[in-house]
Amino acid sequence: MTFLPLYGINVSENPTYEGDDMNKIKLIYEGKAKKVYETDDPTLVIFEYKDSLTAFNAQKKDTMQGKGRLTNLISATFLKLLQDKGIPTHFVKLLDDNHQLVKRLKIIPLEVVVRNTSTGSLCKRLGVEEGLDLVPPLVEFYLKNDELGDPLVTEDHIRAFCFASKPQVEKMKELSLKVNDMLSKYLYERGIKLVDFKLEFGTDEEGNIYVADEISPDTCRFWDLSSKERLDKDRFRKDLGNVLEAYEEIWRRISQPKTTTQKRYEARLFIYLKEGVLDTQGKTVLSSLHSLNYPEVQDVRVGKYLKITLNSPSHQEAEFKVKKMCEDLLVNDLIEEYAFELEEI
Ligand code: TMP
Ligand code: ASP
Repeated sequence: MTFLPLYGINVSENPTYEGDDMNKIKLIYEGKAKKVYETDDPTLVIFEYKDSLTAFNAQKKDTMQGKGRLTNLISATFLKLLQDKGIPTHFVKLLDDNHQLVKRLKIIPLEVVVRNTSTGSLCKRLGVEEGLDLVPPLVEFYLKNDELGDPLVTEDHIRAFCFASKPQVEKMKELSLKVNDMLSKYLYERGIKLVDFKLEFGTDEEGNIYVADEISPDTCRFWDLSSKERLDKDRFRKDLGNVLEAYEEIWRRISQPKTTTQKRYEARLFIYLKEGVLDTQGKTVLSSLHSLNYPEVQDVRVGKYLKITLNSPSHQEAEFKVKKMCEDLLVNDLIEEYAFELEEI
């Protein structure tokens, strides 16, 4: 695997360091990957991202110099991006290489996992094949409890044991799916598939919900779009090597300005009814053909053909956009299927 050198933080759309006016007063919590400090302001805390890496509920541990800097920078970039797009997050500002200032929240004791592709514990638990596209994405809840190994919980468990209220569960789901849409698109444009990720949420004094904790290769699965190479903590979990280099690659792709040269594409889209769905138009055409003396015709299925012309910086992004249009509007996935050809014109 070859990686390009690490880039700096001086790119305008990324958060810049603003660390001069905040002091760590007291360590209030130390987790596996972060330390949390009180500040002079009771509504704010400082997160220090550590160089330690753990997996399988800390049964596997290591330290990699520079890892905390990368997860801090990557997480700050994602949280700021989401914040700028209207998602409430705890992020306030990036202080320096390893520190960021965030809102002090009461953490809801649940981890929300969104999955776009089957892998990891999902495949182990259900015995399903790896790499299946999950449309619509799966949303799962896990109880935040290291002693129990963060077990999967249903919404009924959450309700029965008051881990969160029903409106909180609804809000967490809604925000997680929005985060998924925004990050999937952002990463796709940078040649990265967002396979799955974990979010945590917290509430402020007024009960408002925010995305909390971190979003980084420690808490997400990122696959290179073309090679499917793992660019996340799975490299550590599975002893694949080059862990830090993979994190650097993610940082390189998100800290570089995106190229904006547009090309024009034509998508030829075919939409047809799924096998087994009654096709009344097809049946009408079939009986007309029979009455015009074409007894050899066995079946007719009628579909739709759409020609869509669109601008896009890349073939990959155009493909992503056409799929999204199909999911959002053009195809009723209960009864229809689609296929398309895409060509630069
Ligand atoms: P899983 O397939 O192991 O359940 O992981 C799903 C996603 O959640 C994956 O992106 C990694 C992330 N994750 C965490 O951030 N923390 C954890 O403790 C676990 C188990 C997974
Ligand atoms: N986050 C967990 C740990 O630190 C598990 C994992 O990410 O694989 O042990």
